[in-house]
Amino acid sequence: MRIGFINPQGNFDRNDSYLTEHPDFGGQLVYVKELALAMARRGVEVDILTRRIEDPDWPEFSAPLDDFGEMSERVRIVRLSFGGNRFLAKEQLWPHLPAFVEAIEQFYDQSEWPAYFTAHYADAAATAAMLHQRRDQRFTFTGHSLGAQKMDKLGVNAANAEAMEARYHFSRRLAAEREGMVLAETVVTSTSEERFGQYGHRLYAGAVDPADDSRFRVIPPGINTRIFNPDLDTDDPDDKAHVLAQLPYPDQPHVVVSSRLDPKKNVAGVVAAFAGSKRLRESARLALFVRGTDDPWTDMGRLGHGEREVLKPILERIEAAGLRDRVHFLNLGSQRQLACAYRVLAHSGSVFALPSLFEPFGLAPIEAAACGLAVAATRNGGPTEIFAGGVGELFDPEDAIDMAAALERALGNQQALAESASKRVAERYTWDRTAQRYLEVIEANLAMPPVTTVSPAQINADLGSRLKDYLDQP
Ligand code: F6P
Repeated sequence: MRIGFINPQGNFDRNDSYLTEHPDFGGQLVYVKELALAMARRGVEVDILTRRIEDPDWPEFSAPLDDFGEMSERVRIVRLSFGGNRFLAKEQLWPHLPAFVEAIEQFYDQSEWPAYFTAHYADAAATAAMLHQRRDQRFTFTGHSLGAQKMDKLGVNAANAEAMEARYHFSRRLAAEREGMVLAETVVTSTSEERFGQYGHRLYAGAVDPADDSRFRVIPPGINTRIFNPDLDTDDPDDKAHVLAQLPYPDQPHVVVSSRLDPKKNVAGVVAAFAGSKRLRESARLALFVRGTDDPWTDMGRLGHGEREVLKPILERIEAAGLRDRVHFLNLGSQRQLACAYRVLAHSGSVFALPSLFEPFGLAPIEAAACGLAVAATRNGGPTEIFAGGVGELFDPEDAIDMAAALERALGNQQALAESASKRVAERYTWDRTAQRYLEVIEANLAMPPVTTVSPAQINADLGSRLKDYLDQP
C-alpha cells in the first residue's frame, strides 16, 4: 500500500536542515518524517508531498525527488513546484494551494495514486479537501497546531483583527481546518486534551463534535529511540566533546531548556523563575540550548530578528540578576548532540523544563525523559496528559513562583521522576506504535464506504458570523 503525506510547509531532507531552527521546521516535521519511516518499516510505501524550492538562500530543497538516506526504497520526498521558486513562509502559502493540488494531480496521473492520504496542519487540510472534492481522495487530518488556539494566545480581537488577519490569515486557516474536520475520515489528535479542549473551540462548532467517537482517534506520537535513549555509550566522541566544551559544570544539576526562541515558548518565563528563587539558584544552574550562536553575549550569530527580540530581554534579566556565571548557553547542531547533552545532564541530576504558554503536544520533554531527565512542564496543553499521575511536575507558565516551586520539587525528587518518566515514554511513545495505530485507522476506513462530500461553502457557511462573535467577545 502507498500512502501520501501532505505537508506543504517547511521541507525535508536527509540532513534535517533547519529543523527546530525555523518556525516552519518544528515538531510537525519530525512527526511526519518519523511516522513515514515507521510506516515504511512496516512495509508501507510513503510519499511525503511538499514544495520544491529553487532559491539560492535555501539550496537544500531543489531536487524534485529525494529521500532520507534510510528506508529510501519505500519513503520518497516528493517536491512539487508551486507558488514560484523562492522559499515561502507557511502563512504565504494559502493562495498557492490550488496549484499544489494540480501538481499532485499531474504527478500521480503519470503513475499511480496512493491508496490513502494523511494531511498535516491546516494548509494540508485545504489541499486534501480539494483532492477529495476533485478526485475523491480519502484522508486523515492531523492538525498539529490549530488556528483558534493561536488566536486565543495572541489575543486576537476586533481592534487588532485586521492586522492579525494580514499577517496570519486566520480566516483562511480556520476555514481550511473546518474543511479538514468535516472531510477527513478520521481526525487524529495526540492527546484527549487536544481532542476535547482544542477541537471543542467555538470557532470549530458545526464542523466537528469532539464527543463523536466516530470522527476522532487519539494517537500519541513517538520519539526516535535510536537517538533519544539513556545509553551514554552510544555517544559519538565528537558530539560529547562538543557538549562538554559548552558545559563548564557537567557534574552539577541544571535546569535544562531546549525551546525555540519564540515568544510562545516562554523561555523568558523560566529565566524569571530561576532569577526569582534563591533555592533554585543555589541548587541548580540553568542550561539554555540556543541554536545558531556560540555565545549570545558577544554575537547573535545566525539568529533571525524575531529570535534576537526574544533573546535580548533574557540576557538583560540574567545580567540584572547577576546570574551570568550560573546560566550556560549551548549551541547544539544536531539531534544526536541534543540527546548527548540530555544524557550528560541526566547523569548530574538535572531537570528538563518546558515553559511554553501553550504546548499542543510536547515532543521535546518526551525526548528528554527518554534520555533520563526528570521533567517539569507547562500545564497548558499536551504535557498535562503525557506526565499525568505524578510522572512529571506541572506548572502555570505565567506564574514564576509556581514554576520555580515545580522545578524545585523536580530537582528534589529527580531520580524517581526520571525513572517514572522514562518508563512512561517507553510504554506509550514509540513511532512504531504510532504507525501501527495510524495503519489500523487507515485500513478500517478503507474497508468502509467513503464519507459523503460536502462543499467547502456549506462547511464554512456560518464561519463569518462565528468569527464576528469571537472578535466581539474574544
Ligand atoms: O512544529 C510545531 C508546530 O506546532 C507545527 O505543528 C506548526 O507547523 C508550527 O508549530 C507552527 O504552528 P502555528 O502556526 O500554530 O504557530
